[in-house]
Parts: sequence; C-alpha cells; structure tokens
Amino acid sequence: MLKLLRGFTLSLTLVGGQPAIATDGDIEAGRTKSATCSACHGADGNSVNAEWPKLAGQNAKYVARQLANFKEGHRKNALMSPMATALTEQDMADLGAYYANQTPTIGQADPALAELGERIYRGGNADSGVPACMACHAPDGVGNPGAGYPALRGQHATYTAKQLNDYREEARLGPGSELMKTISLRLTPREIEAVSNYIQGLH
Ligand code: HEC
Ligand code: HEC
Repeated sequence: MLKLLRGFTLSLTLVGGQPAIATDGDIEAGRTKSATCSACHGADGNSVNAEWPKLAGQNAKYVARQLANFKEGHRKNALMSPMATALTEQDMADLGAYYANQTPTIGQADPALAELGERIYRGGNADSGVPACMACHAPDGVGNPGAGYPALRGQHATYTAKQLNDYREEARLGPGSELMKTISLRLTPREIEAVSNYIQGLH
C-alpha cells in the first residue's frame, strides 16, 4: 500500500495534478541502481558525451519503456543493450523514477540552424506533411509524461539526429515507434540537423 501511494504521488507531481497512470517506481532505489549507468549517463543523468543521451528530467514511463525496448531487442546498441538485459520490470520503474526526478542541463543551439529548427519544431512543414513536434513533445520540450512521450529539451544534437535517422532506417523499433518513423521519413537531412540543434538549446 505504501508503495502504491508513493507511486501515485510521483505521477501527480509529474503531470501537475492531472490524473495519470500510477508508476511503482522508487526514486531512492533507482538512485542506487543507477550507479552502473552513471559512467555513461552521468551521476545526475546529464551525460557529457554527445552520443550518450541525457536522461535527467526524462519521464519515468518513457525511460522504463525504452529499457524494455533494449532488453527485448527492438533497439540495439553495443554499449547500451548489455546494460538492459539483466533489468527487471521493477528496476526499470525505479530507474525511471530516479531520472525523472533529476534536473536536465540545457545546451546551446547553433544560431545558423536555430531558425529553421524552430520553424519545424513549432510549426512542422505543411508541404511535406511534417507535424509540429511541439504537439506531442510540448512547446518547452518536456514531452507528455502521462502518455510517455519523451522530453527532448537540452538533449545532445548528435544523439537526437541519430535517433531520427534510426527511425527512418527502422534501426529503432518498438511499440509506438511507427509514428516517429513516418515523421522522420518526411524530414530532409538538413531539417533533421536543424531541429536537433534547436532542441539542444530548448528549455
Ligand atoms: C557504456 C555506456 C552506457 C552505460 C553504462 C549505460 N548506457 Fe544507457 N545508453 C548508452 C548509449 C550509447 C545510448 C544510446 C543508444 C542509441 O543510440 O540508441 C543509451 C540509451 C539509453 C536510454 C534511452 C534514452 C532515450 O532517450 O531514449 C536509456 C533509458 C538508458 N540508456 C538507460 C540506461 C540505464 C538505466 C543504465 C544503467 C542500468 C544505462 N543506460 C547504462 C550508453 C550507456
Ligand atoms: C503525434 C506525436 C508526436 C509528434 C508530432 C512528434 N513526436 Fe517525436 N516521439 C513521439 C513518441 C510517442 C516517441 C517515442 C517513440 C518510441 O517509443 O520510440 C517520440 C520519440 C522521439 C524522439 C526520440 C527521443 C529520445 O530520447 O530518444 C525524438 C528525437 C523525437 N521524437 C523527435 C521529434 C521531432 C523532431 C518531431 C517533429 C518533427 C517529433 N518528434 C514529432 C511522438 C511524437
């Protein structure tokens, strides 16, 4: 019961009072379990290597889902996949709760690309049928924790661009990936570069 209550409180905090799916994640247990992750993702979830994603401030539901995606082989990465194989569902929920409770650092956008990136992020591209990213990832890039749509704000541009290309090439799959595949296929390489740069400075 205590555990249930704790999960419920966490969900309420994440979505600002809206009813949400309760998670069973325990922040403190997640902190302990994150020790093996910190070498790449940083002690507070802010990685310094642009190929390793920041996890700080990412929503718990999305983190848990992606860990399951690595474990189940929908996503593959030589560094990350072995880290997910031994995780239980409870571990994934705890790690999600821990990272959701951390504060992300925000980077800089390249001014030469920011204008195009902002246009795509806020308005999409009507000519090629690209929807506005902010419709699902929110105007400030916090995502939609209740739905498990990822936060993007401050993420390394190198990592973000790789993900969009992975969706295009079906190198990144999993439940819910079809949507991002369709969107990514409609983006030009320059639009991918620009929107990834814009996201790096978004907050
Ligand atoms: C040796 C380095 C390394 C370690 C250790 C590591 N990761 Fe990762 N992780 C990565 C890389 C690289 C990626 C990006 C893979 C890709 O390009 O898809 C990643 C991706 C992720 C993602 C997906 C993020 C997103 O935005 O979709 C999550 C979640 C994650 N790691 C959690 C963890 C957790 C939890 C641990 C510890 C149990 C851990 N990682 C340990 C390197 C590492
Ligand atoms: C209709 C909702 C929706 C729209 C619009 C949308 N996304 Fe997404 N996005 C999602 C969902 C859901 C996921 C998680 C999919 C999965 O599990 O792989 C996602 C995942 C992502 C990821 C992976 C994040 C990570 O940490 O690995 C990136 C990057 C991304 N979206 C960028 C964009 C960009 C750029 C746009 C605009 C061009 C956009 N999205 C528009 C719903 C959306």
